[in-house]
Amino acid sequence: MRIIRTRDYEHMSRQAANIISAQVILKPTSVLGLATGSSPIGTYQQLIDWYKKGDLDFSKVTAVNLDEYVGLGRSHPQSYAYFMNYNFFDHVNIQAYRTNIPNGMNYDVEAECSRYDQVIRDLGGIDLQLLGLGVNGHIGFNEPDEVFAKGTHRVTLSQSTKEANQRFFNNVDEVPDHAYTMGIFDIIQAKRVVMVASGENKAQAIKDAFFGPITPKVPASILQFHRDFTLVADDAALSLL
Ligand code: GLP
Repeated sequence: MRIIRTRDYEHMSRQAANIISAQVILKPTSVLGLATGSSPIGTYQQLIDWYKKGDLDFSKVTAVNLDEYVGLGRSHPQSYAYFMNYNFFDHVNIQAYRTNIPNGMNYDVEAECSRYDQVIRDLGGIDLQLLGLGVNGHIGFNEPDEVFAKGTHRVTLSQSTKEANQRFFNNVDEVPDHAYTMGIFDIIQAKRVVMVASGENKAQAIKDAFFGPITPKVPASILQFHRDFTLVADDAALSLL
């Protein structure tokens, strides 16, 4: 595990974008596992900037996103499909048919989970997985649990996750109760994993995940086992180390 300490959110975003940019330059057909949330927005902005300057080409890249709320369609402003279009895909030359995200409107849980697992298998796995970190140590929407969930599955969101995400909705009751998420096994199978974390409210989760025992009660802790895991975090997020 590698830790890149940065001054602040902007610095963190540029460092993470540098790693993703190197990945895309070295392998233009890369499969990128992508994340939502506030943490990666600056990374996406930097990548868009470099794309606009002519330094990056996403035409052969495939994206496979971590998660989606159950019950929100692609055109719902709080859906992760909408987020990805708004914050990244609409601004670069990625092909729409090469972007993948769980279908939150498919209520057939078994069918949707096996479809998404098949998408990841057909792509031959993920070259680089970008991650944020939940305040309770979740990755994607893999919430603290008794076991590490393997493949794509439907989760019931914890109250703390709903509260953390309510800032995007009018109130906590509007946050969906369920989400589809890639499993822990899908995530750690990625050849390279990069996590971005910023701010004091992530400090405890970072300490627990990367300086404590490996346990499904802190899902991100499994990344301690990964052969190519880089945490890009700012001073505030690393303040408890
Ligand atoms: C959500 C997403 C996660 C994300 C987390 C942290 O729960 N499902 O993928 O990492 O929020 O979000 P933020 O970066 O906004 O703190």
